[in-house]
Amino acid sequence: MIKISPSVLACDFSKLGEEVARVEDGGADLLHLDVMDGIFVPNITFGAPIISAIRKKSALFFDVHLMITTPARYIDDFVKAGADLITIHYESCDNHIEVLKAIRAAGVKASISIKPATPAFILEPLLEYVDMVLVMTVEPGFGGQAFIPETMDSVRTVAQMIQQKGLNVDIEVDGGITPETIKIAYDAGARVFVAGSSVFKAPDAADAIAALRRAVE
Ligand code: DX5
Ligand code: ZN
Repeated sequence: MIKISPSVLACDFSKLGEEVARVEDGGADLLHLDVMDGIFVPNITFGAPIISAIRKKSALFFDVHLMITTPARYIDDFVKAGADLITIHYESCDNHIEVLKAIRAAGVKASISIKPATPAFILEPLLEYVDMVLVMTVEPGFGGQAFIPETMDSVRTVAQMIQQKGLNVDIEVDGGITPETIKIAYDAGARVFVAGSSVFKAPDAADAIAALRRAVE
């Protein structure tokens, strides 16, 4: 069973509510929300107030990807805004276990992400504190970039570590996911797929989501 998580970063923000409804009706399993602070990544997007506003309009599982420095400061805000899962970046703080525990203590699923150049083995001591690992398949910061095939080594390493420990942890990939690249990531062990451009820039979101599923099933 795979899950598709359309990223609103690629949507038409002038009609955010309708855009979310378009992918919700189109068969999305999760909604991916990219929070960027202009410091951890060279781009600024949106924060908790926007997520809180769409929470009122959508029943989708909110997959919140925090690309912000010192994420501990904002966990409560994103929990209150309606996050169902919060991903923090390994490179964004030192107190990973503390932050991941705080996320779970708030009743929300916890996840950790690595950028393409970060070695996957460093996640080993953190796996028991997460429900998901997000392996970035592009450099975080912008939508519409090309999938980096070398990141599949990280997906395979994470899959192996999870299996060795007998844990139930999902692997998500994010960046450049299309009907072509989804198969490569699936074969490496990913089961949750973020798709921004390939879903929101398509004329029909339902067709685009179906095409992603068809590519692996
Ligand atoms: C990049 C973001 C991604 C982005 C993916 O920093 O984390 O979620 O929206 O967009 P596409 O699918 O267009 O590469
Ligand atoms: Zn993302």
